[in-house]
Amino acid sequence: MYRLLFDLLFRRLDPEKAHHLAFGWIRAVSAVPGLRALVRRVLAPQDPALRTRALGLDMPGPFGLAAGFDKNAVGIDGLAMVGFDHVEIGTVTGQAQPGNPAPRLFRLVEDRALVNRMGFNNEGSAAVAARLAARPRSSTTLVGVNIGKTKVVPESEAAADYVTSTERLARHADYLVVNVSSPNTPGLRNLQAVDQLRPLLTAVREAADRSTERRVPLLVKIAPDLADADVDAVADLALELGLDGIIATNTTIGRTGLRTDPAVVEAAGAGGLSGAPLKQRSLEVLRRLHVRTGGRLTLVAVGGVETADDAWERVLAGATLVQGYSGFIYQGPFWARHIHRGLAARLRASGHATLADAVGATASLRDDQQGLR
Ligand SMILES: Cc1cc2nc3c(=O)[nH]c(=O)nc-3n(C[C@H](O)[C@H](O)[C@H](O)COP(=O)(O)O)c2cc1C
Repeated sequence: MYRLLFDLLFRRLDPEKAHHLAFGWIRAVSAVPGLRALVRRVLAPQDPALRTRALGLDMPGPFGLAAGFDKNAVGIDGLAMVGFDHVEIGTVTGQAQPGNPAPRLFRLVEDRALVNRMGFNNEGSAAVAARLAARPRSSTTLVGVNIGKTKVVPESEAAADYVTSTERLARHADYLVVNVSSPNTPGLRNLQAVDQLRPLLTAVREAADRSTERRVPLLVKIAPDLADADVDAVADLALELGLDGIIATNTTIGRTGLRTDPAVVEAAGAGGLSGAPLKQRSLEVLRRLHVRTGGRLTLVAVGGVETADDAWERVLAGATLVQGYSGFIYQGPFWARHIHRGLAARLRASGHATLADAVGATASLRDDQQGLR
């Protein structure tokens, strides 16, 4: 059914327009309270086996919507209605900014992938904080807030820009993410280098602690294009600073192994590639992080997750939470439900009593076999 809608309608529309149209529908349905509850009952996970405790939060399941879909926090409850257990909003920057000129979002349909160079188009941290503050008390959706650097702010002043956003947003966040891995803000990814990342994360932690009495969990989101040694260095730093977790991964600047006609890929131009082609590297980075951190951090797996098998593989490799974005575009509104049902079935078949027991299970198995434990 969705396949038909995708082929007949969405595929013929400019991808950014299609996004606004589909998101508009979700928001419209969720604006009708009775209808929202009904759809949520059908699409959101009800299975107690999937209940997940992560970052000090209780979630109905482990699967959430990755950052970038709802940059301005305009449709959180609608996204929970379609079955996401948490919604990561943003990236939000210190100042409002328009992002890059359109077209800036492209589909590589044969690869079930997207290329985007949105460039953090968002209304800025003041406006988004005001919107989050005005959320109805009845809203129970868990909200991660992902923050990044305003484009016009020089790299040398990046920390102050993140601090501004933190001061405005931390109190509204169930968890906070420092995004240093989007390829579409010049220089942003240099902040992943440990000597830049240490003062940045320290400043954000302090700002979060200043702005609310609650200890807001803090995570960092990294790129799949980091060299293995740099992944290890970020993991070590996260442990050293007492961070709560790492989100792996953002989009890649790589274009290898694609089936799409190279001329089409070339025409899309620069930007981050997401979806199926990211699967392998994203999983590798997760495995590396799990080994390096030995279960001491909450790992959030994102990148190329399309099926319940993919999500289950991430859990076994060490992810407590799993997120997706591109799969939602290609698979439609029943996607989260499909993932949850498949996860519950795999959990039951595995013999693990809870999802938490399954986290990192293949990694431990491999270590056992190699006599590492
Ligand atoms: C159109 C688009 C916009 C995105 N914007 C953001 C963003 O603002 N901040 C961020 O941290 N990640 C952003 N991402 C990256 C996703 O959160 C995710 O890390 C990436 O797409 C890999 O997951 P996927 O393969 O399931 O799409 C964006 C992705 C897409 C496709």
